[in-house]
Amino acid sequence: MFTHITKFTHITKRIFLRKYSVDLQAIATNNVKNILNKSVLFNADQNKMLVLHDERSDISKILARAYKDAVSTDCIASIDFDKTKPEDIKNFINNLKQKDLVVCVQTSPFHLNDYRLRLELFNRNLKNIEHVHLGLLSQNQYQTYINSLSFDPTVVGPLARKLKDLIDLGSKFTVTSGFGDHTCTLEYNTKMESALLNLGDYTGMANVGGTFPVGEVFSEPKELTNVNGKVLIFAFPNINRTMEFCENPFCLHIEQGKVTKISDDAPSSFLEVFDVVRQGEGEVVVREFGIGLNEGMGRNQPLNEVTAFERQRGMHLSLGKKHTVFKKPGIKSKRTKFHIDVFVVLNKIVVDDSHTMFDDNVFHV
Ligand SMILES: [Fe+2]
Repeated sequence: MFTHITKFTHITKRIFLRKYSVDLQAIATNNVKNILNKSVLFNADQNKMLVLHDERSDISKILARAYKDAVSTDCIASIDFDKTKPEDIKNFINNLKQKDLVVCVQTSPFHLNDYRLRLELFNRNLKNIEHVHLGLLSQNQYQTYINSLSFDPTVVGPLARKLKDLIDLGSKFTVTSGFGDHTCTLEYNTKMESALLNLGDYTGMANVGGTFPVGEVFSEPKELTNVNGKVLIFAFPNINRTMEFCENPFCLHIEQGKVTKISDDAPSSFLEVFDVVRQGEGEVVVREFGIGLNEGMGRNQPLNEVTAFERQRGMHLSLGKKHTVFKKPGIKSKRTKFHIDVFVVLNKIVVDDSHTMFDDNVFHV
């Protein structure tokens, strides 16, 4: 069955390693091994791995090779999406057995007509690892992306679960953001929805796998209108879904859970996104309360891809009425359109006026 294997010749390997350091490839392989062993618990003795990849970017080549190097050759097959007919890819996947693993390394999204890839994989009880929108990353961000894959759920898990407990039990959250002598406070006078973890730990879950890198605890206010104050933002995805980073953060004014004013120094590219949300939904609602735990990326280690950067150690909010996980009475999911993650210059989070959950760049639980 595993005949369609793309081979890395010694020549391509030499050229490749000249362009990127040997270390980068070695780190990628090591981090991928950790994902296989600690997150999706891939059993190379009993299961097969299919790496469905493209060669449209160097980072996809590095990652595809990392998976290849991480396991013995007899349990892995590699398919170049662009050189293989959709029917052949589907047949290949349809012949996999339960708990086999499909790794998708995508410079830009793979479309297989009406075949909904992730759904099909989970329906067949296949494990899945996805790397998405890699084409948005600039070459000088490859190291950061690869470093962020070292996130270890067995190390960070205890902290994440304690943060979840704090979020679940608290009924007031005060977020302070500051830059220079400018300090802003955003108050959540509400309980939060039961926080969810995205740590790459799939213990007890029906579906094993997801989009990597991981490392996030996320919730949202139970009472969306009980959010008031100001918050400083240092990054956001622009209209082309590429992250933009601001040397000087700008301020959002939030009243009753909606953005009512934006400071004059906000970049025009943010105003462009904001207007799209406002015109599409009539108002700009603040929803997600996201805590990222991945130390591999951050304000000084930017990534242009928001799905990855969302895990950066710190805090993000979402703008827009859409949230695929949390449901709210009065917000009809089918009518919601936007979920724009914006990233907070985080100084401090205090729970119930008494417990400092984050301060001096450290989480306290
Ligand atoms: Fe998030």
